[in-house]
This record gives sequence, structure tokens and C-alpha cells, in this order.
Amino acid sequence: MENQVVINTDITKGKISRYIYGHFAEHLGRCIYEGIWVGEDSHIPNTYGIRQDVVEALKKIKVPVLRWPGGCFADEYHWKDGVGPRERRKKMINTHWGGVVENNHFGTHEFMLLCEMIGCEPYISGNVGSGTVQEMSEWIEYITFDGTSSMADWRRENGREKPWRLKYFGIGNENWGCGGHMHPQYYADLYRRYQTYVRNYGDNRLYKIACGPNTDDYEWMETVMREAHQWMDGISLHYYTVPGDWWTGKGSATDFDEKEWFVTLKKALRMEELITKHTNIMDKYDPEKRIGLIVDEWGTWYDVEPGTNPGFLYQQNTIRDALVAGVTFNIFNHHCDRVHMANLAQLVNVLQSVMLTDGEKMILTPTYHVFDMYQVHQDAWLLDTYLTSANYEHGGELLPQISVSASKDEIGLIHISLCNLSHESSAKVHIQLRGSDSAHFEVKGVELTAQDMRAHNTFEEPDAVEPTEYRRYTVTDQGIEAMLSPMSVTVLELNLK
Ligand code: AHR
Repeated sequence: MENQVVINTDITKGKISRYIYGHFAEHLGRCIYEGIWVGEDSHIPNTYGIRQDVVEALKKIKVPVLRWPGGCFADEYHWKDGVGPRERRKKMINTHWGGVVENNHFGTHEFMLLCEMIGCEPYISGNVGSGTVQEMSEWIEYITFDGTSSMADWRRENGREKPWRLKYFGIGNENWGCGGHMHPQYYADLYRRYQTYVRNYGDNRLYKIACGPNTDDYEWMETVMREAHQWMDGISLHYYTVPGDWWTGKGSATDFDEKEWFVTLKKALRMEELITKHTNIMDKYDPEKRIGLIVDEWGTWYDVEPGTNPGFLYQQNTIRDALVAGVTFNIFNHHCDRVHMANLAQLVNVLQSVMLTDGEKMILTPTYHVFDMYQVHQDAWLLDTYLTSANYEHGGELLPQISVSASKDEIGLIHISLCNLSHESSAKVHIQLRGSDSAHFEVKGVELTAQDMRAHNTFEEPDAVEPTEYRRYTVTDQGIEAMLSPMSVTVLELNLK
């Protein structure tokens, strides 16, 4: 079967929120400490304690939003321990992640500064599991209230005169699991209560995000939507791509065979089914699609790198992860009417990171390059696209070989992102452009691929996997004929005159 893509360049299907290209940083392993925060006295170049190399790399991919402080950590985090003079901040045990001592040196002020430096929106997860309503309410007051109050005055004492703007606020994290092992009805009641005291001060308007389901827990989605939809702006979904088994072995990040490659992509593609089914439930209570499905944890989860702390979730990142990112973004783009935000887990040194650090060294992963290539879709208009894909067969199972999405940006440039999932076969793709009478157009392309499915960047060889200019296309009467390399992510830019 031939691979055929038909794009109606004059039919748009909604705006792709830039927040789909968001990130997540938790107090977990070496994500916050070492990965972001090195302290003002570090020999690693930093601004007010925050790594400069990391900030520069994040600015380049136009990170739109960053979620913090967890994760599971969020439901054990007491924000008051993380403000004021650093040397006096309380130490705590990070019980979820390795039992290490958390010195609270990176707290609210440092996080808001990081977001200002990157130029992204902060997204804070509040503590429902072990925190009080008052504590959550006061956090919002501390951050956003401009008048005279004990919290606002305390913020000023701690060096910040003006309030920050804060839009995205999560009421709990995984409250079906590490956030309290609650039943959905119980959480829905708590959600209603906690969110009541999360106030809008001045002209600051919060976008309140309820804790949504794990993977395919449709009962959770049904219950929380039924009981609380009128008080939320978004509801989360968590789904991780785990090639093996959660308990007996998730699989190695770098040492895997064709079967594991195939299974990983099959599991990544499951995101389509999950979003579709959760959307169907949300549609019952919110047919206008006011409420966003916020996929605020997604990505690959493998066994940790040999010799590293099992509680730190440090894993390498290969061209396989790039493919997972590429197909997942194509799915999110297609569901942009409901998926208003997504946050990859996690930013640096944890799970499917976009960067890895080792002391003063920092490398970009293949996943980083996909974020870079796909940033053209941020706030662009999704184009009506039809795909007929050849099959990618392995061990008697079939997947579509091709994944695609296309958008048009504000100056009329069209971007088509294509993934070839096959580990061994190239793919010829006929792209037919409809809805435009322009006979001539310019094409530019960039491709991320590798010769080996285990290819990855290391501190010794940081550019082993990086994007290159893509030229294997021809312009035809109908559109474009593109030849995609095996294991590749390609983005084409079309300038229709
Ligand atoms: O991202 C790692 C962990 O995965 C998060 O802390 C938690 O929310 C999820 O289970």
C-alpha cells in the first residue's frame, strides 16, 4: 500500500495551543538540583543559582509552560518551607524519590524566576494529599495578592514587591495513587472544597486543573467530571509509555531490539485511544469543550541507567524516544480542540528528558530536537489532513508506518510533521495539497534520524543524533513526494505563494 497524505490547506480544525509543547520539572533525582539549580556559588555558569546553559536551551525551543514541584512530590510539599533565607529553610525527606534530604533551596521564588528567565508560564501543582485548604489558599495569596495581607507582606519581606502572575494551578496530583489513594467520589468532593479557596486576586485569573485519571481509568474521569466539571478549567491525564512491565522490568533505554522498538511505538500510539475515550466522557458534561484535557505527564519510562539510584529515574534517550515524541505530538495536534496543554516528564535528568547533565556538561537529547522541530506548530492552525498509511508489520502485528499532522501559521507557512515508525524500511509518501491555487511553492525540510535504533547522544559524543537538512523530496503537480528514512522524524515547511 502507498502512503498518501491529503492536506486541505484551506480547511482549519482549530488552534494548536502552544501549551501542548509544555514541560514538567519535579523535585526528583537530579532534575531540580544539578539539572536546573546549582546555587549562586557554583562554578557552573549560573544566574542567581540557575544554570545558564539549561535556560538558553529551553528558550530556543520556546518552552511555553513549566509544571512544578511535582508529581508525587507535590502532595508532600509544604510551600512555606521553601521561602525566606535559604540557610534557614527547613529540610525534609523526599520520601517518594530516593529518601534523600530536600533542603528546599529551590522554592517558589526560584521557580518563578526560572519561568521568567525562560519566558514561560508557570504551572504550579498544589498539595491536596497532605496539605490543608488554608495552606493552598495562602500560597495563591502569597503569589498573586497585591494588597496588604500577611502573605503578601511576607512575600515582600522575602524580596518580591509585586505579585507574580499565575494562571495554571493544579489541585492535587495523582490523588488516585501517590496523592492520597482516594476514590474518585472522595477526590471530587475534596476538589470542590479546595478549589473554592483558591481565589482570583486583582485581575489575576487562575485556570484550575483537577486531578484526572491514570491511563484508562474511565470511571475516575466520569466521576470527577460529573461531580465537579462546573468548577474546573482543565482536568489532567497521565499516561507513560512503558515497553516492558512496570514491576518485573520496564526495559532498557538503550539496549533493546526490534521487538521492543515496535512495542514502544505501539504503546505510544495508544495515546490516541485514551484521548478519544476520555474526550467522549468529557463531551457528555462539557459539549462546548470549554474544559481542557491536560496531559500533564507523558513520555517513556524505562529501567534506570545501570549503577544509578533507582529512585532518581535517570534514563538515556535514543532515536526511539524521538519517534515517541513525534507521534505523540501528531496525536495531540489532531486533538487540539480538547487537549489544551501537555507536559513531558521530565525536563532534565529524569525519564524522557530533553537535556541531560553531568557536572558542568549538558547535552541535548533526540527528544529535545523534536521539540525544536515541532515548535512551528505552536499556536498554528491545524489543517484538515487525511492519511492512508502502509502497514508496519512485526511478529504478525501491524501498526501504521506513518504518522502526520499539518498546520498553518499566522504568516501562512504550512508545516507538515511526518514520522516513519519503521526501524528498517524507508517510506515514500505522496502529499497532495488541496485548496490552494498556487502552482509554485518553496519547500524547506529538516530531518532527525539515525542508522542505529539505539543511537543517542552522550557527553563524549553530544551530536551523534541531531537534525539535518532534508532534501529527499520532489515537488509534483499535486504536491510533494517525500522519501522518509527509516526511524525518522521530518518537518517540511511550505511557503505557498
Ligand atoms: O514523573 C514521575 C512520577 O510519575 C510523578 O511524580 C508522578 O506523578 C507519576 O507517577
